[in-house]
Parts: sequence; C-alpha cells; structure tokens
Amino acid sequence: MLPTEKQYVQWFENETLRHRHARWLSQSNQVPPARIVSVDDKTTADEAYRLACAGTSMLWYGDFQNARQLLQALTRRIERSEQRKISKAANKNKSAEPTAESLVLPEVLSKRIPNLFHQQRQAQAQRSRILSRLLLELDAGYVSQLRRAPDVSAACTAAFGELDESCLLSFRDLQGVLGAAGWRAKGVPIESLGLSVFPHYGVFAPTRHEYVQLLLDAPLPDACDVAFDIGTGTGLLAIILAQRGVQQVVATDLNPRALACASENFARLELDAVQLQQADLFPTDAPLANLIVCNPPWLPAKPTSPLEYAVYDANSAMLRGFLQGAKPHLAEQGEVWLILSDLAEHLQLRSRDELLGWFADAGLEVKYRLDTQPKHGRSQDTTDPLFAARSAEITSLWCLVPFDN
Ligand SMILES: C[S@@+](CC[C@H](N)C(=O)[O-])C[C@H]1O[C@@H](n2cnc3c(N)ncnc32)[C@H](O)[C@@H]1O
Repeated sequence: MLPTEKQYVQWFENETLRHRHARWLSQSNQVPPARIVSVDDKTTADEAYRLACAGTSMLWYGDFQNARQLLQALTRRIERSEQRKISKAANKNKSAEPTAESLVLPEVLSKRIPNLFHQQRQAQAQRSRILSRLLLELDAGYVSQLRRAPDVSAACTAAFGELDESCLLSFRDLQGVLGAAGWRAKGVPIESLGLSVFPHYGVFAPTRHEYVQLLLDAPLPDACDVAFDIGTGTGLLAIILAQRGVQQVVATDLNPRALACASENFARLELDAVQLQQADLFPTDAPLANLIVCNPPWLPAKPTSPLEYAVYDANSAMLRGFLQGAKPHLAEQGEVWLILSDLAEHLQLRSRDELLGWFADAGLEVKYRLDTQPKHGRSQDTTDPLFAARSAEITSLWCLVPFDN
C-alpha cells in the first residue's frame, strides 16, 4: 500500500549532470531528503558515515551486495559511537553506567529505568535516521539496475502495491521489505496450534507468542456463540477462538494491511466462521459478544512510524478505549480477555494501580488471571541496558467481567 499522499524527491546526478526526480517511498514516514550525493563502491565507510551523520543522503550507484556491506559498516560505526558515549558518561559518573548488575538494584532501577527506555528509543531513532540515508533508485515496477541486484519486484509490490514510475527509497526500508517477504512466504509457526500464520509487511508478526497458550488454557464462558477479536493483526487470536469452536468470530483492525493479511490466513485455514471489519476498536452491526479478546500494543509511548502502531500506544489510548468500550458490547455472562505484558510496569511507564483503576472505571473486575513468562532471546540478553525490566516481564490474560455479573 503506497502512502496516500504522493511525495517526490529531486536530485542532481553527478555522472550525467542531469536533474532527476522520482517518487519518494519511506515506510517510516521520513520526509524526502533535501541533500543527495552520488556514492558507489569507491566511497569508503568512513566517508559515508561522515556524510550520513551530517544529514546528507547518499544515492548508491555501485554493486548491490556492496551496499549491504556498507550498511553493516555504518552500523558498526554507530555502535562504536554509542559505546563511546556510554563510556564517557560512565567516566563522568561511574554510578551512571547502565550495567545489568546495577539495574538489579531497586533504588537504581526506580530512578533510571524510564530515562533509559526513552534514551534507548532516541538512540534507535538516531540509528534509523543515519542508516536510512543510504538510498537506491528503482525503475517502474521496482526494478533495480544495480550490479548483482536481486529481483525485489514481487516483495516491493506486496509491500507497497503496483508502481508504474521510478522511486527512491532507503536500503534499510528495502531490507525490511525483503525480510517481511520472507516471513510471508515461510510463515510463523505456532507450535501449540500446529499451524503457521503468514504475516504481511507492516502487520504485527507474532514471533513471540507465549500468550497463545494462555488463550488455549483459559476456559471459554459457558455460552460462547459470539466472540470479538479486537486488533486482530494476522488473525491469530480469532483463529484460536474459531478452532476452539466459537460459532461466530468478528475480528477488527484499524490497519488495512492487517485486514488483508488476516483474511488470507482465514482463507488458508478455511475458517468461514470469522468475519473481518475495519474498525476503530469494536465492530458495528454485530450481535453482543459472549467473549471479547484483545492483545493491544503494550507500551504506552508514541509510535514514530506506521510499523510501530502494533507495539506503542500513545497514552495507552487504545487500551483505555478498549476497556471503556467493552462492557456495552458484552452479552449477559460475557467475559473480556485482555492479553497484556507488564513490561510497561517494569519500565515505570504505567503502574499496576493505574491499570486496575482503568478496569474499575470501565465497570470491570478481575475474575481470574493467567500468567506466562517470555522465552525470547531479548529477555535473556544481559548486555541490554533494560535487561532487568525485560527479564522480569510477565504476560497475562486478564479475564474481566462486569461488576454486576
Ligand atoms: C499487538 S498487535 C496484536 C495482533 C494480534 N491480535 C496478535 O495477538 O497477534 C495489536 C493490533 O492492534 C491493532 N490496533 C491498534 N489500534 C487499534 C484500534 N484502535 N482499533 C483496532 N485495532 C487496532 C494494530 O493494528 C495491531 O494489529
């Protein structure tokens, strides 16, 4: 899906002495670059790093595979620069160094964790800005003229839609597109269900899916003919409900990519019982639900690109909107299953009391809670400054019912 507003980028081509222009594609919503210089295999990594840090974008004319190596070299330079900053800060104030050990101390944790989280996001944003300055041009139909370029046409068409004009995009975005095409082709295996879901570009890929077991373990309400899956993504939760025998499942999402993706996953599994609606939270024209499930974005922070909307939820707007709106959609004896990681609590971006307060404000109380711990690599990475928070993370299924149930 191409951005609705067309943006163009202009540059002067050193080799041909021509002014050029092309459609600008940026999935992280970056504005078209103002300054572009031509670079190729003769450009050194140090030169490229200097240019990128100075805000200059570089259009690659060299060998495609060499550009990948240049990106790796740039990444190493960014990491070294980040490391130097950490060491400098540590030298200034030894106790400020964010080591895994120091973060285990509760008093250190309480002061520094939220800052560390925001610093880490800023560093990631800076890294992304620098790496996104290496660009390539694709002809109409996403054809690259670079030496040793793979065929990226199908992957780009799947991600952005048909394009009948030339475009400029960052190598980094292209790598994201190619990675997504790989997931879409091979699927994410969900072992406990004995099936795979096939995520599309820009749709939350459930590569960490410990929470699936929670949905399999939770007892369905006595009568469970109608269920909603709010924010369905690939359709994974709706699939579980349909497989558990719920007659009618209505799945919603705001993201049109998610709807296309879920629809394809339902069709593959021949799940006729699931209906899809593009909606902000709850479906319209649907019967009252015996069960409403939701696995919302779990970190209350501002998404900085469309790809982050599945993870970050500014001011917990979706979570609070979901809780506030759930009760009027419930049938008698109905239940809400909220899947939520407590990472935000460990990062001190939200407190447990705040969450319980939102349940109460929505007229909901906790019937029971099932917990699971993360098994993914990041939760075991002791070099991560947020290791203490990540390793303590628990994901819960909160079964909520109206007060008067
Ligand atoms: C963490 S992902 C969960 C996806 C899927 N349910 C799963 O468990 O794999 C959150 C999903 O909520 C969707 N979403 C975010 N805000 C929404 C809203 N206001 N209404 C509907 N869906 C929303 C996102 O597009 C994303 O697909």
